[in-house]
Amino acid sequence: MRRILKISLLFFSLLILPAQPIMAHEDFDVVDNQDYIAICGDCHMAHQPQWMPARSWNYFLTNKGLNDHFGVKVDIKGKDLQAIYDYLKAADSSKSDNKIIKRMERSYNPNTIPIRITTNRHYEKMHRKIIDDEKRFVHDNPKVQYMGDCKACHEDALTGDFSERSAKIPGFQKSDWE
Ligand code: HEC
Ligand code: HEC
Repeated sequence: MRRILKISLLFFSLLILPAQPIMAHEDFDVVDNQDYIAICGDCHMAHQPQWMPARSWNYFLTNKGLNDHFGVKVDIKGKDLQAIYDYLKAADSSKSDNKIIKRMERSYNPNTIPIRITTNRHYEKMHRKIIDDEKRFVHDNPKVQYMGDCKACHEDALTGDFSERSAKIPGFQKSDWE
């Protein structure tokens, strides 16, 4: 009897407290690989794999790319390295149906290995007003690490919310950049 009560209580609580799945916003992916977040999200936000092509992720994980990652060294062990590459490659920019990612993909030079999202032509176009006054909005802004610090201005970037509606530059009003 008690067991039945317990089971029915459990069932009832499942009905009133449905597990909240983390929803991707506006077709951008959720960053949900814990190894990737722990290692590549240590110094800056762990970017969605969809922002870059597999050749870029591959480069970041080679000895050369790890030893000189924008002037710093990134430490990853062998097993983690493979797991992270598999995760990044499975959802790189070539796999995405998102319209913005498709434009980004076309703007990456196929003959080079891009190492920045933020110098992609389409990325620059979307952030034109910020880049035109980057010193004020980014470099001199104590709340923004650098232009690739998506989370500073897109609060829910990790769950894929990059909408224009929710984007804000900390310390500024919309009227300052619009
Ligand atoms: C030890 C700190 C550190 C770790 C760990 C780290 N990064 Fe970085 N990352 C940096 C720095 C520093 C920059 C350059 C920031 C700047 O331009 O001011 C950077 C920039 C980047 C950029 C370029 C963003 C842009 O468009 O400007 C990408 C992509 C990136 N990192 C990916 C990774 C990946 C993938 C990993 C894991 C393999 C990783 N990072 C781990 C410090 C780190
Ligand atoms: C300094 C603040 C700032 C940073 C850093 C930043 N963004 Fe933005 N982003 C904005 C603002 C503000 C807009 C809205 C465009 C406007 O109002 O000019 C925007 C627009 C966008 C859009 C277009 C949204 C749409 O629906 O048109 C995308 C996608 C985007 N950002 C992605 C990124 C990614 C990815 C990063 C990190 C690599 C990033 N942003 C870093 C402020 C920022």
